[in-house]
Amino acid sequence: MTSAPNTQLQTEALLDSEKAPWWRQAAVYQVYPRSFADADGDGLGDIPGIASKADYLAELGIDAVWLSPFYPSELADGGYDVADYRNVDPRLGTLADFDALVAALHARGIRVVVDIVPNHTSDRHVWFEEALASAPGSAARERYIFREGTGPDGALPPTDWESMFGGSAWERVPDGQWYLHHFAVEQPDLNWDNQEVRADFVRTLRFWSDRGVDGFRIDVAHMLTKDLTEPLPSKAELEAMPRDGRHPLIDRDDVHDVYAEWRRVFNEYDPPRTAVAEAWVDSSRVPLYASAESLGQAFNFELLEADFEAGQFQRIVRDNLALAKLSGSSTTWVLSNHDVVRHPTRYGLPHPERDADGRPARKHGNEWLLSGGMQPVLDRVGGLRRARAATLFVLGLPGSAYLYQGEELGLHEVAEIPDALRQDPTFFRSPGVDKGRDGCRVPLPWSEGGRSFGFGDGGAHLPQPSWFALHAVDVEDGRPDSTLTMYRRALALRHELQTDEELDWIDTGRADVLRFARPNGWQVVTNFGTEPFELDRADVLLASDEAPLGIVPGETTVWLAPN
Ligand code: GLC
Repeated sequence: MTSAPNTQLQTEALLDSEKAPWWRQAAVYQVYPRSFADADGDGLGDIPGIASKADYLAELGIDAVWLSPFYPSELADGGYDVADYRNVDPRLGTLADFDALVAALHARGIRVVVDIVPNHTSDRHVWFEEALASAPGSAARERYIFREGTGPDGALPPTDWESMFGGSAWERVPDGQWYLHHFAVEQPDLNWDNQEVRADFVRTLRFWSDRGVDGFRIDVAHMLTKDLTEPLPSKAELEAMPRDGRHPLIDRDDVHDVYAEWRRVFNEYDPPRTAVAEAWVDSSRVPLYASAESLGQAFNFELLEADFEAGQFQRIVRDNLALAKLSGSSTTWVLSNHDVVRHPTRYGLPHPERDADGRPARKHGNEWLLSGGMQPVLDRVGGLRRARAATLFVLGLPGSAYLYQGEELGLHEVAEIPDALRQDPTFFRSPGVDKGRDGCRVPLPWSEGGRSFGFGDGGAHLPQPSWFALHAVDVEDGRPDSTLTMYRRALALRHELQTDEELDWIDTGRADVLRFARPNGWQVVTNFGTEPFELDRADVLLASDEAPLGIVPGETTVWLAPN
């Protein structure tokens, strides 16, 4: 039974949300520019390609677009190796194209967030070239982290530290010194004790803010500052040290001095520019990044590591809403991004083995990728069903939802990329043990037919599988049961229903069914189990899959109207 909406409550909520800054409960859509749409037909997606899809983005109903790096880059790490922070890669367009994209998105009420990569530059950055051409001990080398080697003739690296992508974290240069790179060899770490480095990033933030950018996503925000006092600890010593803000390399308290300075810059603008931290830190330390004196918001990646399971989801929601209260920020939800196996695929695979902390023992999905997708372990239909249910659960929660391009089409991870065509440095440096992240970065299918499924006339830089045709935008468009239709309806309704950042759990009497209500009465019910759940109401606004009247079938989410 539907009862009359409580108009007073709704009006109050609306007023509150008008006062609240735009980002607190935004739906932010991540575009991976090289794989979104290719306007000039060179096989790489580009800025004019994104602009050509501005109407698509508006129709999707998102509040902001986050652009992964589009800066000049040799693409050693998909653009996260930046050669020039204040320019556009010529293969992707020009600064004028960027301005036109911002204007096109702003005209449709969509904000723009760009990615800032401050831990490292590309080895093609003019600073690094200068450092290599300069003598040990020179000011040019001081912008990076150069050290003498150990062992006879310094032929061994300064320490046994490992890069995040595998192999040593040090690389030797021709004059015998070594430089630190926590990621690929082509990504030398910057020295954040260097004032020139600090000043240059402030310049970069102003450069993009002046061009109308609304916010920033800060790459590996927890690793910038380092204490490299000699003697340097070994890998084992580092691992044994607590991550309490004084660890030499990770999540140091003094990184917030950098962000306090950035915050002053953000607040010079009206409205203040926003930032979200990519900080893989203990959850107790997330509020430091999310506080109003620091970056203002931080990603919560816990759902990326969770199974599709009611207990895990409920704990994660409870914990993160509490953490957000501590920082005064809103929380964030992420089911997929450019670094992880897409969520329909994760939920279609057997549960991963867990370590003592409850984390997947290996990157979930990698076992399946290693088998080249040939083993029939992936439940494609069930995985997508669970993913749609998880998405509607998340879109009903308080806080910001970060969506990744292609999830609105229900895309699975692409496993069938031949090794010879892989691009991700994690594949090359592991070597081959980790298949890497290319499978979620395959260019999007826009049309059922045509060259590269409408991505562009020049083919796609990563091979698209034939099943992409089933998920093409023009196939899903207008089909009532498509994932695209579900995302569009959900995002439109979310705007209408949005209310204060509170949530009340409602007991369902079942451990595998979660139900919560928002302050205006909007309710979300997710059945994580397989047995149907009987509802006491029939006023379903939206369901992640077909739901008979008064029933939430297994692995399904429904939204109920405010009453
Ligand atoms: C972040 C990015 C990832 C990149 C790494 C190094 O984790 O999300 O794609 O490889 O930083 O910049």
